[in-house]
Amino acid sequence: MQFFLDSAKLDEIQYAFRNWGIDGVTTNPRHIQVSGLTFRKAVDKIAAWVEDEGIAGWERFPVSVEIDPYIEEADKMVAAAKEISAISPNFVIKIPCTEQGVIASRRLEAEGIRTNVTLVFSPSQAIAAGRNNALFVSPFVGWKEASGEDCEPYIRRVVEIYRAQSYKTRVLVAALRNGKQIAEAAAMGADIVTCGFQVYKDSFYHPFTDYGLDVFRKSWDATEKD
Ligand code: E4P
Repeated sequence: MQFFLDSAKLDEIQYAFRNWGIDGVTTNPRHIQVSGLTFRKAVDKIAAWVEDEGIAGWERFPVSVEIDPYIEEADKMVAAAKEISAISPNFVIKIPCTEQGVIASRRLEAEGIRTNVTLVFSPSQAIAAGRNNALFVSPFVGWKEASGEDCEPYIRRVVEIYRAQSYKTRVLVAALRNGKQIAEAAAMGADIVTCGFQVYKDSFYHPFTDYGLDVFRKSWDATEKD
């Protein structure tokens, strides 16, 4: 299972790539807003960074960038996606999972522009992305679980359907909020997870590790070294 970072902040992206070996990035309008930059500056910075880092191309390091969420018609989505895609060979275009979005994704994929069908909340939406050969499908977990749903059956079902139907689209489980959800996605056979910087950082932590270090340091100090 690959790890993508859900962020548009270059310092986080660079740190996570160099230290944790993340495999790609997902952004959305909220992440771009949090970066404090204009949309164009934020995506240009990421585009320049992948180039400098020697990881040009979506096959090596995909960076998902979302189209203007106000666009509702497939033709306009396709036009917006083409503009964003022209900025960097790493950009995979995030298209919302509406009927028009699925039509746009289908057309873009046919023209070689890779897409990430996003804002997916049901297995039937995931099927729409898979049968149209999108590069990624992004079923969201955190938003559903925040409103009281247990997402395990839903993600399990999406993965099961994708295997049964031999869809090539990769299941990118999104909006994960903690290490437990990362582990569940891994156990269910997700292809990729995407999480915020702090979620990954927290996932390294366990209080018993700190406790154990404390115990071992005391023993270390009380032991002759030679
Ligand atoms: C995934 O591709 C999305 O960008 C992301 O997971 C959205 O959710 P969040 O910003 O609430 O984490």
